[in-house]
Amino acid sequence: MKDILFYFVVIAYVTAGYGENSAPDQCQALSPLSQCPMDIPSMKLLKKLYEESPDKNVIISPIGVFTLLSLYASGSEKQSRDEVMQLLGFNYFTQLLDCYSGLSEMFSFMNQKYIILANKVLVSDKYTINDGFSYTTSLYKSEVDKKNFENQTAAAEAINKWSSEKTNGIINEPVSASDIDADMAVALFNVIFLKDKWHVPFSVANTKDQDFYVDRSTVVKRPMMHLKHPLYYYDDKNMGAKMVMLPYKGTGFRMVIVLPNEMDGLPQVLEKFSETRLMDSVNKMRPQGDKVYLYMPKFEFKTKIELNDILPKVGVTSIFEQGSSGVVKERTVSVSKALQQTFIKVDEEGSTAGAFTGFLFMPTSLENPKSEPIPFKAHHPFLYVILQNDFVLFAGTYTH
Ligand SMILES: *[C@@H]1O[C@H](CO)[C@@H](O)[C@H](O)[C@H]1NC(C)=O
Repeated sequence: MKDILFYFVVIAYVTAGYGENSAPDQCQALSPLSQCPMDIPSMKLLKKLYEESPDKNVIISPIGVFTLLSLYASGSEKQSRDEVMQLLGFNYFTQLLDCYSGLSEMFSFMNQKYIILANKVLVSDKYTINDGFSYTTSLYKSEVDKKNFENQTAAAEAINKWSSEKTNGIINEPVSASDIDADMAVALFNVIFLKDKWHVPFSVANTKDQDFYVDRSTVVKRPMMHLKHPLYYYDDKNMGAKMVMLPYKGTGFRMVIVLPNEMDGLPQVLEKFSETRLMDSVNKMRPQGDKVYLYMPKFEFKTKIELNDILPKVGVTSIFEQGSSGVVKERTVSVSKALQQTFIKVDEEGSTAGAFTGFLFMPTSLENPKSEPIPFKAHHPFLYVILQNDFVLFAGTYTH
């Protein structure tokens, strides 16, 4: 067989409930989550991030960004709210709020050994949280603490300690004292952490340094893992990509790898999936009677994303420009800084991934508010997302 081209999307995904200590019944009782489409906005965000990144190995946690956007929008004025609804694909704000607060609640029931999603709100001791916003934070299962931001070092230390605890130390210093402004009014934070083993691990002995095609003319050696197994598979002719699914041990968790047919097809695949639902393709995957022979690199990296640069490119600008009156009582506030730090490690045993997202707010003015194994060789740039059900926990690209 000719060298098949191997861009791909990796998707890990979970059904409600996790592992032996989870409470699936409670999770399923939290309903409006079926109305929570996250694939298109996630791919829009990933596509912009990929286009902006000189490095092209990028990863983002869409759920972290969308959770904070939706929480903030609950306390913000019409235009900010409309932009968030537009990006996230909702016509009614109550539905958007049900979706993302429901997700935070659902994750709070899951086994924290494997999956953590947590929110935190810090309010300056000079301000009082708005009653309505305070109620919304409770729906998001968010901790709310008072903080004196004047000692920037101490504030950064407190935030970093929280992130480190929630992510088992993999994201231990997402902010520095220089990120904190003494006049800050409010800060919203989200962390997500996932650690799970493959249902069928790759054999470490089979991992070998092999060619990875950064582009048509650049070849590097990368540690390629190998697995021959009857995996879920789908050849998506419309999208010009093939997909494979790798289940994790935890009930319902799985990673799907989507491999563009063209060696340099990653930008086109990102483009297509920013307009056409990835889940429609994922749901067409079927168990393959014949084995799939999967080659994929093991990899590990950490990135820091300036969301101030990315969000306006997907239509979210007003949160940075216009004051919102529903967050604290004394003043309107707007986002002065939005950032995310993300980590991912994928190896023979499984995956560990984590993200810290922070939105920092400054006060604004008062006035303005077959029999042959199917070769699946991921040996050049690819795209991946990690999902829980249809919810995009992480999305990234690996290119070198
Ligand atoms: C600020 O906090 C740091 C770390 O907690 C502490 O060492 C320092 O003394 C504090 N500075 C002031 C001026 O209070």
